[in-house]
Amino acid sequence: MEIRKLVEETYDIIAAEYAKRHFAEITFNEQREMFLKMLAPGSLILDAGCGPGQDAVFFTERGYRVIGIDISEGMLGIARERVPKAEFRRADILATGFPDKTFDGIWALRSLIHVEKKDVLRVLNELKRILRPGGLLFVGVLAGKGERIVPEPYDPTGKSKMFFNMFNKAEVEHLIKAANFGLIRSEVKTKPVPELGQECYIFVLARKSS
Ligand SMILES: C[S@@+](CC[C@H](N)C(=O)[O-])C[C@H]1O[C@@H](n2cnc3c(N)ncnc32)[C@H](O)[C@@H]1O
Repeated sequence: MEIRKLVEETYDIIAAEYAKRHFAEITFNEQREMFLKMLAPGSLILDAGCGPGQDAVFFTERGYRVIGIDISEGMLGIARERVPKAEFRRADILATGFPDKTFDGIWALRSLIHVEKKDVLRVLNELKRILRPGGLLFVGVLAGKGERIVPEPYDPTGKSKMFFNMFNKAEVEHLIKAANFGLIRSEVKTKPVPELGQECYIFVLARKSS
């Protein structure tokens, strides 16, 4: 099965369980605050691969305008219900369909981990296209090596599979520069993940040139 289809179908199956475990997660508050500090009040933010909308709720509660996109209708259904102040659309981060220079900031937490390595630069170029000049990009990915298809840990039946793409810091920095973003900062951090223990993340903040 095509990777994108596999990811979409599995997220449709586990959407409710994912929301249960992650909606109230405060793990990324430090990164959320840092991102908002670099945006003017009321800026328009794209939540790219928004899942059930927990980041969108954080941003809208602080007065920012948010559009969330995701390929999983299961995730989008939950996000629409739980975050009425944001707008949610079904779209692929590889080809979002938004006009050039639409967003002041783009937040992409744990979505590039489901894109094949061969397509990651294409996604970054697409995100750059829809950012306004001087716009801000946040990327959060899992630290690790290679690409793999594994049993989905959130599916209690153990039947569904998920595709993961893991990165190292130099690889992410190289991709950000290859897409012509100006790198502001990148860091590796270990974070608690509900019921899975800990995961190691790479966080990047970058700017589209003006
Ligand atoms: C691990 S969840 C992350 C959700 C949320 N950003 C978070 O950090 O909790 C990955 C999300 O990315 C979405 N996704 C994966 N590939 C995508 C793609 N090509 N385009 C849009 N969304 C995608 C999935 O459907 C899923 O909702």
